[in-house]
Amino acid sequence: MSANVFWAWLHYLAVFVLFSTLVVEHLLFRPQLDAATAKRIGMVDAIYGLSAGAVLITGFVRMAYEKGFAFYMQHWAFYALFILFAIVGLISIYPTVVYLRWRKDLREGRAPVIDAETARRITIILRAELALLLVMPLLAAWMARG
Ligand code: HEM
Repeated sequence: MSANVFWAWLHYLAVFVLFSTLVVEHLLFRPQLDAATAKRIGMVDAIYGLSAGAVLITGFVRMAYEKGFAFYMQHWAFYALFILFAIVGLISIYPTVVYLRWRKDLREGRAPVIDAETARRITIILRAELALLLVMPLLAAWMARG
């Protein structure tokens, strides 16, 4: 097996995990959460963060191993992919910060108190992330073909 097959495999795995953790997070999230579910959301979000890092690293490695950085950097779809990926990363900071704020309550066995506005924002952000992720394979396929 050549190195680029291996890295392509890892890239796909990372993308699958990224997408599934986001779906799970969206399904678990509710304005009223019990402590166990809130804890689970925090764990899922941590895996989501790790998989986003893995997508980025394997993406860069593929750029080097497949056709070289210059090939991708002359295609608009690469920049579009990268910008969308950055937007997803940036908007996901808000839910992560909210989940981290729950930690004190969760350590003491209490369910977090989530106000309606925060819950609404988190739901919108998770949906926006999922929608943006749907566009990315199209951009990746586009840039792969020059
Ligand atoms: C969630 C975001 C991403 C998704 C869904 C995604 C998906 C994909 C898919 C489906 C392919 C296969 C394209 C094909 O061969 O037709 C691919 C290839 C690739 N991706 Fe990603 N990707 C993502 C993020 C990234 C990022 C951030 C980078 C760069 C840092 C990147 C770099 C690459 C490279 C270099 C290839 C190989 C293209 C080729 O075969 O020449 N990807 N990606």
